[in-house]
Amino acid sequence: MTEEIAKGLVGIVVDKTAISKVNPESNSLLYRGYPVQELAAECSFEQVALLLWTGDLPSAEELERFQDFERSHRALAPELQRIAEALPVNAHPMDVVRTVVSFIGAAALAENPDESELDQSKRLFAAIPAVVALSQRRRHGLELVEPREDLDYCENFLWMTFGEEADPAVVDAFRVSMILYAEHSFNASTFTGRVVTSTLADLYSGVVGAIGALKGHLHGGANEAVMEIFRELENGVDAGEWLDAAFAQKRKIMGFGHRVYKNGDSRVPTMQDALVKLTEHYQRPDVLERYFALETAMADRKPIKPNLDYPSGPTYDLMGFDTEVFTPLFVASRVVGWTAHILEQREDNALIRPLAGYNGSDERHLS
Ligand code: COA
Repeated sequence: MTEEIAKGLVGIVVDKTAISKVNPESNSLLYRGYPVQELAAECSFEQVALLLWTGDLPSAEELERFQDFERSHRALAPELQRIAEALPVNAHPMDVVRTVVSFIGAAALAENPDESELDQSKRLFAAIPAVVALSQRRRHGLELVEPREDLDYCENFLWMTFGEEADPAVVDAFRVSMILYAEHSFNASTFTGRVVTSTLADLYSGVVGAIGALKGHLHGGANEAVMEIFRELENGVDAGEWLDAAFAQKRKIMGFGHRVYKNGDSRVPTMQDALVKLTEHYQRPDVLERYFALETAMADRKPIKPNLDYPSGPTYDLMGFDTEVFTPLFVASRVVGWTAHILEQREDNALIRPLAGYNGSDERHLS
């Protein structure tokens, strides 16, 4: 019997979701029905998080209650700081975040086993920025900066990372990136979170699994890899020549291509606008020159379009984030999508357990 193999689950619909809709034909992405571009133009990241978790935009009162919760759960508990600092300074920030989130989960489940999974999600949302900020600061020999309750999520994230209040133009580009990264249907890390949840494991285990999946260069790690390309181009290498050499080695070009979008990623124009504004703010037209040079050289060679990691990489670099911290920033945002999916999986669960075709040796015996 020949079995049909859906390698990489390409084209397989495994379940339904009401959280987001990715439509490659119309190049659109809806969060709970709202176009992501509209949300990025008008909403705070906190509003979008509540929308993804609960299904609707919050009332003013609901938002205020969440903001109070978030602001009062931002500080890194001393034991978490000790865990993070017990790791080598050169540990990858994704490994630091994965480890600390695992610790947060173990402690929270022991101390408060009956906390709702929605509150657990909010707890992670509030706690992760301090972990990311500490990861970056340690790499530069700097101390942790305490959070400020008078700042919103994005302002405070930048404050804790850089130890100074960010310019509104920078906060805005950061907010846009957080909103655009927050959710994208059954991508590899979200699916991982759902698989873990489907075994009836706890929410934190699902998130730790998702962080592991996000680390890879074919998924979240791509924005890091994009910066490595830009760095080579900074040294005066011609974008076309660089691409020809990469194609000759059969390399995938990071920041380009997508499993679902084949005609361009719906999030790119919004993130690109934010990048353009930021290059004006920092007076760095050279960044845009390299950005468009590589995009054009790629278009001249293959019909493969940039994905969100292409504009977000140079955006985070301009803000001053270390390249290794880009994927943890993605974690800080996507934890919203992951946990929304974990809640959804929990509500209507079926163990996720596919089949495999066997291509090993025929039956054989020890004697
Ligand atoms: N660079 C060069 N070629 C690429 C490419 C890229 N970034 N993305 C796809 N292709 C090519 C493939 O080599 C393949 O060519 P072939 O038919 O001649 O073999 C064709 O396009 C189809 O690609 P495929 O690998 O089947 O697409 P996929 O859906 O499995 O892969 C990605 C999607 C995202 C894994 C892939 O585009 C990729 O590796 N991109 C770079 C990593 C990245 O930016 N990831 C972030 C995603 S948001």
